[in-house]
Amino acid sequence: MTMNDDFLFQEEAPAAATGPDPAVKPWLILIVDDDQEVHAMTRLVLKKFTYRGRPVKFLSAYSAEEAMEILRQDPGIAMILLDVVMETDDAGLRLVPRIREELDNDAVRIILRTGQPGQAPEDHVIHGYDINDYKAKTELTAQKLGTATVAALRSYEHIVALDRSRRGMERIIEASSQLFNLSAVDRFAEAVLREMARVLDVPQDGFVCVPRGSQRADAQILAAAGRHAGLGGMPVNSSVPPALAARTMAVLRERRHDYDDDAAILSLRTADGRDAAVCLHPGRTLDELERRLGEVLAGKISVGFDNLNLYERLKKAHKASVIALAGLAEYKDQDGGGDHVLRLSRLVTEMAFALRAEAAYAEQVTDEFLDLITMGSMLYDIGMVGVPDRITLKPGPLDEAETALMRQHCERGAAILDKASRMVEGSNYLSFGAAISRAHHERWDGSGYPAGLKGTDIPLAARIVAVADVFDSLTHKRTFRDAVPLAGALAEIEAGSGTQFDPAVVAAFFKVMGARGRLR
Ligand SMILES: [Fe+2]
Repeated sequence: MTMNDDFLFQEEAPAAATGPDPAVKPWLILIVDDDQEVHAMTRLVLKKFTYRGRPVKFLSAYSAEEAMEILRQDPGIAMILLDVVMETDDAGLRLVPRIREELDNDAVRIILRTGQPGQAPEDHVIHGYDINDYKAKTELTAQKLGTATVAALRSYEHIVALDRSRRGMERIIEASSQLFNLSAVDRFAEAVLREMARVLDVPQDGFVCVPRGSQRADAQILAAAGRHAGLGGMPVNSSVPPALAARTMAVLRERRHDYDDDAAILSLRTADGRDAAVCLHPGRTLDELERRLGEVLAGKISVGFDNLNLYERLKKAHKASVIALAGLAEYKDQDGGGDHVLRLSRLVTEMAFALRAEAAYAEQVTDEFLDLITMGSMLYDIGMVGVPDRITLKPGPLDEAETALMRQHCERGAAILDKASRMVEGSNYLSFGAAISRAHHERWDGSGYPAGLKGTDIPLAARIVAVADVFDSLTHKRTFRDAVPLAGALAEIEAGSGTQFDPAVVAAFFKVMGARGRLR
């Protein structure tokens, strides 16, 4: 109900207890006529009229301008009884295109009325501007006006329902594209809650859960908001009120939706038999259309869950091949098998998370960035495959020519990854990895290689990998030296802050080390 409705209700709200139920929203009918008598007659004739249990409420305008003003303020008017002849012979007719075009109101039903039956409007006006009916004022009997009003309200109701349904579907399509972009289960669950609330136009107050344990006697909350905020990861049975928990478990068990005034609980079932439930507290009773929209979205979400499972499997297979590939280029003096790149990638990802907590980096370290850096960082040294063993395995320092050859691994790796990334559309971990490969030996003060980039000209991902790479290399044994003790490695990273490394990245590194309990 708009504020305007409230105001109009107050104006006429009957004080007597026998008056109409204020919870029932009346149909709004606008009478546009320059003859006061017509207003009075119409109100009298339709005084007891109801359609689908709802009474009518009249608004009055005495000129086309006044009608425009009222329509502008109250888009919920269902029907207009419009006088053709007012300030001019065709003032009423001229109002119709203004309502349809200027106010962009295609829903309101219009019945033209005239005192001069000979002056019927031309067909093109009736058809072109969606006019419902044309009546002579002499036809103002309760019977005739009542029939015309029923027809108009019915068609208004259909138009509004179609429009709501169309807008709901548009929101579902929008929501689906949001949902299908997500690749992690918890983030997907958060989006399910958010988009379901948005599609139904209710507050984000509820939770998403999946069955837990082989007996499926309890469920685990994946995402929660509103009154359930903070319950993510908790079992449903011991964290939400018992009655709600029982209903939720029944929805999961019986795979059906469940609605009451407190909660709408929707069942999600995926093609491979996995179940989930979305519980929302809409704060009101959902009507038939809203339930249908919710159920359509629930179907879309089920497909999303399936995609997510496939995606997770694909990602695992993919990760395995990236690790195998990266293993080729691992320091040949270390144990193979990809331990080094896995360790590095983990450290790099944790550092990126730590950086995201800093306001200055929150915008750069997006969800996508986090996804890409995990895989992209594994390939940072892939260019080493082109460096001869006599150099990589040399126990002593490299001469000038050897150093030059060694340094080519950055550009070489970037070229390999750039070429591969061109086969994939959009931004991907390969192009991300190319940037890392190219710049992971650049230094914050500009004295690095290959390009001598300085400060923030070096891609953030490469600045993170630079720190992680030096640390991992120092703390592990190499052909030409033993592993450096942890304290020494930490001191070396700290010493490089502001010269070799980005100070903010070094700070993030120490945050991770602190969290890992390695600073004691
Ligand atoms: Fe390198």
